[in-house]
Amino acid sequence: MFTPDVESKDKQTKWLYSDIVKEHFFDPKNFMVDDDGYEASGMGMVGSPACGDMMTVWIKVDPAGDRIVDMKWRTFGCGSAIASTSMHSVMIVENGGRTIEEALAIKPQHIIERLGGLPDRKIHCSVLSDKALRSAINDYFRKTDQRSRIVIEGARIVDKVMKVTDHDIEEAVLEGADTLEKVQARTKVGAGDPSCLPEVEQLIRFYQEKYFG
Ligand code: FES
Repeated sequence: MFTPDVESKDKQTKWLYSDIVKEHFFDPKNFMVDDDGYEASGMGMVGSPACGDMMTVWIKVDPAGDRIVDMKWRTFGCGSAIASTSMHSVMIVENGGRTIEEALAIKPQHIIERLGGLPDRKIHCSVLSDKALRSAINDYFRKTDQRSRIVIEGARIVDKVMKVTDHDIEEAVLEGADTLEKVQARTKVGAGDPSCLPEVEQLIRFYQEKYFG
């Protein structure tokens, strides 16, 4: 038996956080203390429909290398949001910063892996920084007149072969598909490229929490 970090009053729900999650929660990296005078290349702000928490991300881009050399953030989100955003920012700026292409390839599941896992009910907390960073990158593209590179939120392709987007997954969940099998029956997601299925499972959990949590 493990000793849970959080336990509901009726003792039916128990959460255990990894040591890495706790380390990033108690000592968050790249937290924006004061944005006065910070010259951001782009800024993104999103709110979580699941809990009403807000997330803001600022980035600095080195245009020569198309590289994100700094990422700062601030949130009113919970401990998991703080820990996952802190880890996300570390992953973005480590080793001199990721190129924008590399940054966009980082998915919530990669952040959760580096954190040593998150409780299921907390998956949406890591989606928050992912969306805020994508919004900040779009903001940078807008400011630097690179409009062809803007990716519209809510229609991100999850399965390139079957052309299934996160919006399709959202619709399937809204129509009552609550398992991977049911979502696959409706969308055919993963039929051509099964490597997307872990992300699909996360999206199903996220949208379930968003609408039925
Ligand atoms: S950010 Fe909403 S519960 Fe974590």
